[in-house]
Amino acid sequence: MTIKSKKLVTLDEYIIQSQNRFPGATGELSQLLRDIGLAAKIISREVNKAGITNILGNDGSTNVHGESVKRLDLFADQQLISALDRSLITCMVISEENDGIVKLNSEGGKYIVYLDPLDGSSNIDVNVSIGSIFSIYMRQPRFGKELVEEDALQPGTRQVAAGYVLYGSSTIMAYTTGMGVSAFTLDPSIGEFILSNDNYQIPTHGRIYSINEGSYNSWEPGLKKYIKYCQKDDAETGRPYSARYIGSMVADLHRTLVQGGIFIYPSSKKYPEGKLRLMYECNPHSFIIEQAGGMAIDGKKRILEIEPHSIHQRTPIFVGSPENVKMVKSFMEEYAEEPA
Ligand code: AHG
Ligand code: MN
Ligand code: MN
Repeated sequence: MTIKSKKLVTLDEYIIQSQNRFPGATGELSQLLRDIGLAAKIISREVNKAGITNILGNDGSTNVHGESVKRLDLFADQQLISALDRSLITCMVISEENDGIVKLNSEGGKYIVYLDPLDGSSNIDVNVSIGSIFSIYMRQPRFGKELVEEDALQPGTRQVAAGYVLYGSSTIMAYTTGMGVSAFTLDPSIGEFILSNDNYQIPTHGRIYSINEGSYNSWEPGLKKYIKYCQKDDAETGRPYSARYIGSMVADLHRTLVQGGIFIYPSSKKYPEGKLRLMYECNPHSFIIEQAGGMAIDGKKRILEIEPHSIHQRTPIFVGSPENVKMVKSFMEEYAEEPA
């Protein structure tokens, strides 16, 4: 009898195999990614039974951005931070849920981790996909100096790894260390993330645009014209494009990675700098999309090259298939001088 079985590769095996390709690697980044994987499993379990435990709803407080904090935001924040603290590799964490830097027990640890512990909070109570986002930097050597916020202010090009976990119809963890994008699907029956794609490539052109159109009236003229272009009939480019907007960046970006198209969160009257956070929303997603062959800009320049001035700063973002991003950029350049 011959046994035909598909080889299953777990997240932990994959991380170790990848590490073995680098003879000098210390294994610390591998450990850090495994720590995040463990926290993701715990958060996923809690998300799945959220309706029957007492974890839905508001915590009663507001975070540094004045947004109301959900209980699940805090649960995810605590799980991720304590997983990172346990292995003594990370010296500090910057999280959406914490005003300043969070110093961990290993002040000598060589990694700095940014977190959006729970992305898509407004979708928590309505059973729509949510996520977690992480971005990892190396601490720069500054001998004898105490850890300060400035140590964390590095451009996205310096990320050593970044990724997200999507709690959707299944739980998926995707990450990059700068050598392509790999994704793993959680098999809840065995409690393991199993490799489902080890080289995502975003389509060069996609037929989906994703933006909160409720803010249409306060967009710049070039963006308004681009969205009208997306809605116009044209068989050759597959227009009109479809509109899809989930309201959880992780879910919208995962769809963009798989199916192509464009995701936009522009500046508007309500959010003059854009709404999304550079360091723990835009940089990690931009790193992933670029690694898959896509593009991410703030309207003019590459997101990853923005020199950060503050850990919670915001930026407009236009991200997705290269042809779509180039097209919206050309619209904004053409109509830059036009009155709104
Ligand atoms: P968070 O839940 O971490 O605060 O992020 C919410 C973000 C992001 O996930 C999403 O793309 C965006 O907010 C949606 O904002 P609008 O409701 O303004 O469209
Ligand atoms: Mn978010
Ligand atoms: Mn969040």
